[in-house]
Amino acid sequence: MVKKRACVFISGSGTNLRSIIKNSREYNFPVNIKLVISNQKHADGINFAKKFSIPHIILNYNRTKFEKIATKLLLEKKINLLCLAGFMKVLSKKFIRNFKGNIINIHPSLLPKYKGLNTFNRVLSDGEKNTGCTVHFVEEKLDSGKIIVKKRVSINKDDSPEKLKKKVQIEEYKAYSIAIRKIYSKN
Ligand code: GRF
Repeated sequence: MVKKRACVFISGSGTNLRSIIKNSREYNFPVNIKLVISNQKHADGINFAKKFSIPHIILNYNRTKFEKIATKLLLEKKINLLCLAGFMKVLSKKFIRNFKGNIINIHPSLLPKYKGLNTFNRVLSDGEKNTGCTVHFVEEKLDSGKIIVKKRVSINKDDSPEKLKKKVQIEEYKAYSIAIRKIYSKN
């Protein structure tokens, strides 16, 4: 099997990156991670790239400069799939158009519900019984592209935003890799 070439954009702890890296080491996983880009100098996730000897770079610049350098690297490294994993910069319409159909993201809610930030606080204050995570294609409109995978968790009465985040993240680690497998199982 010839594996596709993936890049992961991160901004923080990179625990989704870690789970994708681990799965990508299986021989029948459809992608290998060839590049990790962080827009934050101190993103802990960079340590996972280091640990697994994956090329990585920090691009702590404004959006225009970030996208210019990132685009060059994605083309040079012949990246097929760009995975956003806790990447907190909003990409420009132009950048998204350039890589359209090849950018995916993970969002901590059951989209289309609870787009945007602070999803855990909002689901709790609305008294929801369930929430979860969604992996979706990235479109120009925020958190709105075609959904690839959703995973649900139930909310308990005593769940705090922190507790809920932990429960949802356990599902995220499964969902991201299921989504990547699903994208390539059709081809
Ligand atoms: C995840 O919960 C994801 O849903 C959101 O940001 C968080 C990133 O966590 N977009 P990590 O950096 O993968 O640990």
